[in-house]
Amino acid sequence: MPSYLVDTAQRKYRAIIERGILARTGEHLPAAGGKVFVITTRDVWQFHSSRLAAGLAGRSHEILFFPGGEENKRLACLEALAEEMVQRGGDRSSLVIAFGGGIVDDVAGFLAAIFMRGVPVLQIPTTLLAQVDAAIGGKTGVNLACGKNLVGAFHQPVAVLIDPEVLATLPEREYRAGLFEVVKCGIIRSPSLFSMLAEKRAAVLAREPEIVERVISECVRIKAEVVSADERESSIRVILNLGHTVGHALEAETGYSRFLHGEAVSFGMRAVTYLAERTGHLSAEDSVEILNLLDLYGPIPPLDGVSAGTLAARTVMDKKTLKGQVRWVLPVRIGEVQVVPGIDDAVVRSAIEEALG
Ligand code: GLY
Repeated sequence: MPSYLVDTAQRKYRAIIERGILARTGEHLPAAGGKVFVITTRDVWQFHSSRLAAGLAGRSHEILFFPGGEENKRLACLEALAEEMVQRGGDRSSLVIAFGGGIVDDVAGFLAAIFMRGVPVLQIPTTLLAQVDAAIGGKTGVNLACGKNLVGAFHQPVAVLIDPEVLATLPEREYRAGLFEVVKCGIIRSPSLFSMLAEKRAAVLAREPEIVERVISECVRIKAEVVSADERESSIRVILNLGHTVGHALEAETGYSRFLHGEAVSFGMRAVTYLAERTGHLSAEDSVEILNLLDLYGPIPPLDGVSAGTLAARTVMDKKTLKGQVRWVLPVRIGEVQVVPGIDDAVVRSAIEEALG
């Protein structure tokens, strides 16, 4: 099974893709160290607790439940988890295991980053979206009412353990939402992944093990390579945000409760595809190919009541905005993107309008 090195200034670690690795978690924990705190949600725990418990055999641990949901990814929840960690014996020798989807990865990772000024975190992602993106690369944080992930820290994990077996219990909507991050990887850096997604849709949606592992592996390879080149998003890492500027605006505008992150990113990728075509960065043929692939893995929930003007205004609050200028990540062909700052507001708004349909 493949494993990829993520080589950052903060830490070097491996993202390992291996069936059944959950039950071998203990092998990947630092030998020395104190109590382990597993941060998870009740649904994940219900399905996978026995295998993780087997993997932690012999290691003192506590389970802390996070209520789940993007709307709960807030400082108040983080504070409650930190209080609980202290009450249950957490100290500077503790280690956090982030055991869940992207939201748990972000919250537990941020908790580890700031608990007693920082303890290690092991990421064990249980959704496709977290396995191909969120758990790798050390981005952690919580939302503010005015924007997504606006408070956080880079905190690289000691390892990322990716067990494709856990995807068997993932609800269909969550699985499809994760596939939009996979589509993103194809658009930004992998024409072969893009073609595979177009040609093998049925096998991908049926979660055929061999194809799921190929998909995860290609995305993890890309993520490890990009993060190793630019840990802190000062240059190339920004390409991983294709579709995220408009996607984050959609999530914030709809109270973080109507769209899953991957669904919002799908909408965002549609908008930037129109934007790239309108600004002459993308051919009409490639634009159609991207839109068709997004349709193949859709639809996303209805966009009723969402206004292009409000979304366009929100994009300025994105973290990628510098000195008031949004840095747009635009597809320029299948497998390649370009960062284009300062596109005229009216053009952005009309591309979003077109994506709203
Ligand atoms: N999810 C984008 C990144 O990790 O940079």
